[in-house]
Amino acid sequence: MTDWLKNSVFYQIYPQSFFDSNSDGIGDLHGITVKLDYIKDLGCDAIWINPIYDSPFMDAGYDVRDYCKIAPRYGTMDDLMHLLDEAHKRGMKILLDLVPGHTSDTNEWFKQARSGFPTEFDDRYIFTKSVWDAPPEYRLMCGVCQRDGNYLVNYFSSQPALNYGFYEVTHPEWQYSSDSPEAWATVGALKDIMRFWLDKGIDGFRVDMADSLVKNDDEKIATAKIWRDVRMMMDRDYPDAVLISEWSNPQRAIVNAGFHADFYLDHQGNGYNALFRNKQGSDNLSFFADGAHGDIEAFLAEYLPQYHFSKDSGYISFMTNNHDMPRATFYMSEWMIRLSHAFMMTMPGVPFVYYGDEIGMRYRTDLISVEGGFSRTGSRTPMQWNHEKNMGFSDADEDMLYLPLDYSEGSPTVEDQQGVGGSIFENLKSLIALRKANPELMNESGFEVVYARAKEYPFVYRRGSFTAFINPSDDDKTIDYDTNGAKEYYFLGGYEINENSVTIRSRSFLLIRHENA
Ligand code: NOJ
Repeated sequence: MTDWLKNSVFYQIYPQSFFDSNSDGIGDLHGITVKLDYIKDLGCDAIWINPIYDSPFMDAGYDVRDYCKIAPRYGTMDDLMHLLDEAHKRGMKILLDLVPGHTSDTNEWFKQARSGFPTEFDDRYIFTKSVWDAPPEYRLMCGVCQRDGNYLVNYFSSQPALNYGFYEVTHPEWQYSSDSPEAWATVGALKDIMRFWLDKGIDGFRVDMADSLVKNDDEKIATAKIWRDVRMMMDRDYPDAVLISEWSNPQRAIVNAGFHADFYLDHQGNGYNALFRNKQGSDNLSFFADGAHGDIEAFLAEYLPQYHFSKDSGYISFMTNNHDMPRATFYMSEWMIRLSHAFMMTMPGVPFVYYGDEIGMRYRTDLISVEGGFSRTGSRTPMQWNHEKNMGFSDADEDMLYLPLDYSEGSPTVEDQQGVGGSIFENLKSLIALRKANPELMNESGFEVVYARAKEYPFVYRRGSFTAFINPSDDDKTIDYDTNGAKEYYFLGGYEINENSVTIRSRSFLLIRHENA
């Protein structure tokens, strides 16, 4: 069963930039295999790899040309099978990235659908009935193919939306209902793709834009129906495999749609940003900002109801970062990032570490967009392994590299940090070990707020027999607290435990354990 998920800590790999084993300047699957022990040493026991399928890479692989073929630059199917074997030998799991909502406009299905000749894929995408029919409320590509019709795109213009139908049909002449056989034929094709990979032993998928399938489906009712159908297939035929959604609405994603876990993403104005990403200078600084005066209530008001609603059905995934947003170092000092790691590793759910965050890699603002990265490009630079050629990422000539390396002063490397006491790497490693050693810090206990006040510090919460105190502010804070013999279990910074109070020093984290709880 999918029980393994509840005790996992994931490592996210952007394959282009992780490790280049064949000196072509781009990371590859064998490069991941070679580094499995590194990931295991950090304490992560599951990996999500961004798309590795054949693609023209207009959106870094989220524009899939062939769902069942590995992009040659990443290697071969044998390389993937070898990676899977080696991961499984080490007790590690591998998730691929499933892109269900759209394909590349170079995908064979789309080439046929746009051809103007009748083909079996005519209803696989969403075309208007004629090129003169272009309702402005839809994102349509107009007059660009032989077929007499305009087609809907999901993201960039090279990513035509697949046809899962419309929940509310507003233009019956070209929109299929989400209950139509045409829409469910697309679901069937999606399930075939999933089976192809699951039959090869993949442990599940991170699902791209999981909420994007059915159009005009504001409450996501029909979209959830599709995922529940997919989940039934998984439960029946692949009971160990998991689905993790890019959705950021646990109630809808986990409870209604049946995902095993859902990412807590950096949506504008939401709780994730209230914690980590409201930049200095904005009105509402984040809770973990330096010189912090953020508002923990802004996070809790959103998180608590979602947590309570979804906790019996699945997990919320905190992430240190991902390939779509500026790295944490753009918002927080290294020390504040350590406190944020302490928080993430003591919260319920299934946490994700983005490659390079374990050493505090920086966000580059000076790069020209590569493969549709735009502002995201600066978070996708090659992993910094050591001080050798290309920082150990690749043996290729520098001008062949996927993206330039960060040679700025103080730029971190694994070599400088792994095994070096006090480093951000070792700090995160100890936190992951702390989590792994204590099921209560994973998902064997609940989450209770002990002390949280709007615009005040500290934040105190309980996980089973543990209580965590976090004070990112510049001032020491003392709160009344009946410690009842509880002892320090882990800390960063400083603290004082008295019988009826706890003082948590400025910029500190403390975890205490109540032996008799
Ligand atoms: C979300 C992915 O994380 C992002 O990188 C991609 O560009 C879009 N979905 C489109 O697939």
